[in-house]
Amino acid sequence: MNCFRTSEAARTPGPTPDGQSRRMPRLRAALRTTVAFGTIGVTAALVASCVGVAGQSENAMPDAALVAQGKQIFRFDTFGDESLWTDTLRLHEVIAAAVDPTTALSVGLKVDADALPPAVVQGIRNGSINLKSPDTTIALLKLNAVVGLQGKVETIGGKDTLTHIGVTCALCHSTVDDSFAPGIGKRLDGWANRDLNPGAIIALSPALNATTKAVYNSWGKGKYDPRFNQDGKNGPQVIPPAYGLNGIHRITSTGDGEDIAYWNRYVGVTQMGGHGSFSEPRTGVKVTNGTDDLITSKLPALQAYQLSLKAPPPPAGSFDSVAAARGQRIFAGSGTCSTCHSGIQMTDANARLHPASDEASEPEPNGAPSYSSRSATKQYRTAPLHGLWQHAPYFHNGSAPTLEAVVLTYNTRKSLGLSKADMADLVVYLKSL
Ligand code: HEC
Ligand code: HEC
Repeated sequence: MNCFRTSEAARTPGPTPDGQSRRMPRLRAALRTTVAFGTIGVTAALVASCVGVAGQSENAMPDAALVAQGKQIFRFDTFGDESLWTDTLRLHEVIAAAVDPTTALSVGLKVDADALPPAVVQGIRNGSINLKSPDTTIALLKLNAVVGLQGKVETIGGKDTLTHIGVTCALCHSTVDDSFAPGIGKRLDGWANRDLNPGAIIALSPALNATTKAVYNSWGKGKYDPRFNQDGKNGPQVIPPAYGLNGIHRITSTGDGEDIAYWNRYVGVTQMGGHGSFSEPRTGVKVTNGTDDLITSKLPALQAYQLSLKAPPPPAGSFDSVAAARGQRIFAGSGTCSTCHSGIQMTDANARLHPASDEASEPEPNGAPSYSSRSATKQYRTAPLHGLWQHAPYFHNGSAPTLEAVVLTYNTRKSLGLSKADMADLVVYLKSL
């Protein structure tokens, strides 16, 4: 069995640029230009030795150098998306005028404590650094200490001035361990930032009209709609973890891509505003930003890094192992969970997807259209379950706030007839994964 999957970068040469879009929402309108495609660099180090379980294969750990390169890209690469966040949305102006560190932390931005020099650490501790001044935010950006934001700070008229701002993957898919203070600590890459309110941040842009701002402001913490600026529909998704995906060849909740690189290209171009192209005939999305390609050559390393991120095990002592063992029997037995949540990653994703009618999480909240209907596959992927303890709320739309709510929903929708005690054990099992 050959478990090697070519990355999207290897398989798909860049689409022919046409510079046209069907709709031109403001967010991307300014970025539409033709592109000259560069050569596609592919360092394929994901060659696999395989473990065949239920159609899944755990790829061998990718090459360490490629992973290290991918880590830098994941954390610090904007793919040139300053074109969107600076030139179009003008968020650098907003930050300089009004976003002090206290405000930044309140919208869920995180600070990397390892990037802070001792004098700054001391200043924060003893209160001599003013956390109510936007100048402090600029100082933190200059230190490259704000997770997922890349600021360019230049001296203008003797003053540190923020001239460019861009975002990286870490904005949504990293958080910190709060070891220094709430929102300030060591990076946890791959953990979804469920405190982040991306909609509220984008809505600060002076370039958006009131109707668009209202949509962004409606999403709330930990959610983002990665299709709104393409299809104009409003149905925010929970920001998912970017860990625990090794061996899964259906990426995103609707399984749109066969590998992570597919979706990374999508997000990098269409959402972050990075320079490059993305084209998907199944949804009609076709976007080109800039005249250069700052994404394609980075996809193999970026994917390798994500494949190296394992789901975090539950903290020691966080669950009762006897109850978890009882729950496991229900999962495989009367709960019928393992009919879909099977194999190493607890998903049948590599074998099949599921129609919306199978879903415990539909209809969507707030009358939103089925998320699957907006996707390339029009179906859902059975979610992998490792690390569940870490990332409430659950389901693609966050409709279940807790694992208790997940189990109760299945019990009701699928008429499983589980007793209260069975459901409690099943929840403990889910927390043990
Ligand atoms: C503004 C927030 C945001 C940014 C920035 C962002 N993502 Fe995501 N990401 C999301 C959301 C929301 C989804 C869920 C999409 C879905 O299921 O349809 C997602 C899905 C994913 C998935 C799929 C996870 C799975 O379970 O299959 C991966 C992997 C991922 N993102 C990696 C990245 C990488 C790498 C970058 C940088 C190129 C990035 N994301 C940038 C919000 C973001
Ligand atoms: C018919 C197939 C199927 C069965 C049976 C099934 N699931 Fe699921 N499960 C899915 C799909 C598909 C999703 C993704 C739903 C979504 O994102 O909205 C999912 C999502 C979940 C999630 C949310 C994961 C996350 O990251 O948010 C949990 C937890 C879960 N299932 C547990 C269970 C349990 C417990 C059972 C048994 C009581 C069960 N499932 C039975 C298909 C199934």
